[in-house]
Amino acid sequence: MQLSTFFDIILLNEVESMQLPNLKEARKRTNEEVPYIYLDEKYDSEVLKGKKYFVKTYGCQMNVHDGEEICARLESLGLFKTEVLEEADVVILNTCAIRENAHDKVFGYLGRCKHLKREKPELIIGLCGCMAQEESVVEEIRNKHPYVDIIFGTHNINDLQKLVLEVRNRKKLDVNVYSYEGKVFENIPYKRESNIKAWVNIMYGCDKFCTYCIVPYTRGKQRSRKSIDIIKEVEDLVKNGYQEVTLLGQNVNAYGKDLDDISFSSLLQKISDTKIPRIRFVTSHPWDFTDDMIEVIAKNDNIMPYIHLPLQSGSSDILRKMGRRYTKEEYLSLFNKIKEKIPNVAITTDIIVGFPNESDEDFKETLDVVNTCQFDSAFTFIYSPRIGTPAALIKDEVSLSVKEERLQELNKVVNEYSKQANLKYVGKVVPVLIEGVSEKDETKVFGYTDTMKLVNVVASKETIGKIINVKITEAKSFSLDGEEC
Ligand code: SAH
Ligand code: SF4
Ligand code: F3S
Repeated sequence: MQLSTFFDIILLNEVESMQLPNLKEARKRTNEEVPYIYLDEKYDSEVLKGKKYFVKTYGCQMNVHDGEEICARLESLGLFKTEVLEEADVVILNTCAIRENAHDKVFGYLGRCKHLKREKPELIIGLCGCMAQEESVVEEIRNKHPYVDIIFGTHNINDLQKLVLEVRNRKKLDVNVYSYEGKVFENIPYKRESNIKAWVNIMYGCDKFCTYCIVPYTRGKQRSRKSIDIIKEVEDLVKNGYQEVTLLGQNVNAYGKDLDDISFSSLLQKISDTKIPRIRFVTSHPWDFTDDMIEVIAKNDNIMPYIHLPLQSGSSDILRKMGRRYTKEEYLSLFNKIKEKIPNVAITTDIIVGFPNESDEDFKETLDVVNTCQFDSAFTFIYSPRIGTPAALIKDEVSLSVKEERLQELNKVVNEYSKQANLKYVGKVVPVLIEGVSEKDETKVFGYTDTMKLVNVVASKETIGKIINVKITEAKSFSLDGEEC
């Protein structure tokens, strides 16, 4: 073979295998059946055995759980985990695209990786997660960050081993990001970070298309896992001594809408029947929150009385523009129903300030709802335009400084209610699942109440992994102190 032809073939292969993301494609939804794929993988390679990997994960719990898959996949190649970037032979940045500052953090971190690669040319740098699904990000990396070796997306984490092994045969950045609706993989390997509590995906993707949100594009169509597979996973966790599972989905109450035979309330009941001591779930969209769900949560002791119920805005007008499908009044009535039917429930929320053209009046309505609901805690954000979403096209007349003032004002109110909610615990005895040694004080252990309050506890290390009764002695703004009793 002539040398030039040989190189042509390599180049052609690279071009052909390059799969770039496309947000317009990612928006499409069809009625095509979701493929359920039961993985049966074996990897045996000497190339990277004994080398070290470093994974940096940004974003939501789902991404954290994906991080556990990434770790397991790298370990299947014989790599070991390191917590020190500088020691790594393979670095993977598992990214989040929800707001602009998430992007900024990743590009900042890439700077450190670039520096490292200069000293260590053999270093393999990969980028994955939700940012990888955005064409603007991939373009920027291709143009300005040529030291990145591989980019893969949220739909093909299972390609990771192959991509890492192929890096040495390639000299150029390899992009493998798919924008199709998505499949459901089973038998995914995970290196779980805890042996006490575990994340369990119950569904992937989102079809809600809130007008500000990038997730339906980065994660694809809603696909529920089959209940039989979920239950098997939970039963295995129970066998292995796990005390808690958190069921994950962008919109867990919509679980099963794409299957024939099951709803979220019936799934919750089945999971409760496995007798795992604690069940949590995130996130609940107010739109699909049924009376059946409230009933199942109220009647099963192992389903925790803690609900994250994102409000986003207290103005019905803004909610309509956000495409949230509920009004302020509907939110309040759901909130009150949950509080009434589930004793001792804690409700937390997410709020966005500064959605395009949010008026002072709109913002006051958000404050009104916060004052009425007195949330146990709230995550608050300034609206961040995401390229490709409908809201990003709205001409916004409100300045950033006004938005920042609103955020500050909101945070003051939100923090006050968090503190008050915590103060109500002082003197009470509550069940706490102890997870480890307290970060702040090595003589103490820490854990969470059934209502998801962080507690630093005076107790022996023997209590780690157990649910114990704790008497709360002091309330801080973001945590409680207590002692075993
Ligand atoms: N599926 C969840 C939300 C996941 S994203 C739900 O619907 O409740 C987590 C939070 O990020 C959202 O609740 C919202 O408050 C915030 N968020 C999403 N997109 C945003 C954007 N473009 N700008 C600012 N905050 C955003
Ligand atoms: Fe985003 Fe809305 Fe889906 Fe939540 S429900 S992930 S906010 S589109
Ligand atoms: Fe971020 Fe993707 Fe989660 S955008 S919030 S990592 S689903």
